[in-house]
Amino acid sequence: MIEIKNLTKTYGKKVKAVDDITLMVHSGKIFGFLGTNGAGKTTTIKLITGILEADSGSIGINGIDLKTESIHAKNNIGYVSDDADVFLRLKGIEYLNFMADIYGVDQATRKERIAVFSKRLDMDNALSDKIQSYSHGMRQKIVIMGALIHKPAVWILDEPLHGLDPKSAFVLKEMMREHVSDGNTVFFSTHVLEVAEKLCDMVSIVNKGRIQFTGNLDDLKAEQSRDGSLEALFLEMTKDEEIN
Ligand SMILES: Nc1ncnc2c1ncn2[C@@H]1O[C@H](COP(=O)(O)OP(=O)(O)OP(=O)(O)O)[C@@H](O)[C@H]1O
Ligand SMILES: [Mg+2]
Repeated sequence: MIEIKNLTKTYGKKVKAVDDITLMVHSGKIFGFLGTNGAGKTTTIKLITGILEADSGSIGINGIDLKTESIHAKNNIGYVSDDADVFLRLKGIEYLNFMADIYGVDQATRKERIAVFSKRLDMDNALSDKIQSYSHGMRQKIVIMGALIHKPAVWILDEPLHGLDPKSAFVLKEMMREHVSDGNTVFFSTHVLEVAEKLCDMVSIVNKGRIQFTGNLDDLKAEQSRDGSLEALFLEMTKDEEIN
């Protein structure tokens, strides 16, 4: 469960990237955070994962306050950033062991999880190579494996499907569904409406740091605009009103 209350973040003095966002993502749900480029998705995600500090507002992860119980809250999070270029000089297996060490995953458990993840994501033959030698998609997959090695209850993924081949994207979507069916939470951002439509139990559409809509896909479709497509509705909700 993720509980966000009145969250605001301004870069410098001017750019209000996140503007008074209030949002509740329940356990057992896949939540899609939709918005155009620059809408504030990554900034919101960096606030939820504690990478950035908010100007105001609060964030609860499974009932744990991110500000006052930061380490405890972060232990419940698995975060996949939009930048897969991490620890390029490490071998894949070294990176996974490093992440497992950070999160205190014992040897037997990590060995089993690494075996399962690498088989499912088709990475078993690449683990002894340096991340530097990986393709973009492979880097993304090693980051996903590292983020999930401690089996966090709450997954937070920034554009996780971007750059993955169809098979890997399918596997990741399957893993997301399995995760929520065990009563956990998945929060991910995307611009790809078809993905959101197929995968999400609930979505928010964000524009210029403000939430324009939150609800399930049926609620969203009930707001049908013009040709009735999700695309038309999205365009309607994210159009720039200041341009005449
Ligand atoms: N470090 C920064 N300093 C100043 N402004 C920033 C910084 N990072 C982001 N911004 C601005 O904040 C706003 C929100 O950016 P953010 O990266 O959160 O959007 P996004 O929805 O993730 O976009 P995208 O779909 O392109 O990833 C944008 O106007 C952006 O230019
Ligand atoms: Mg982003």
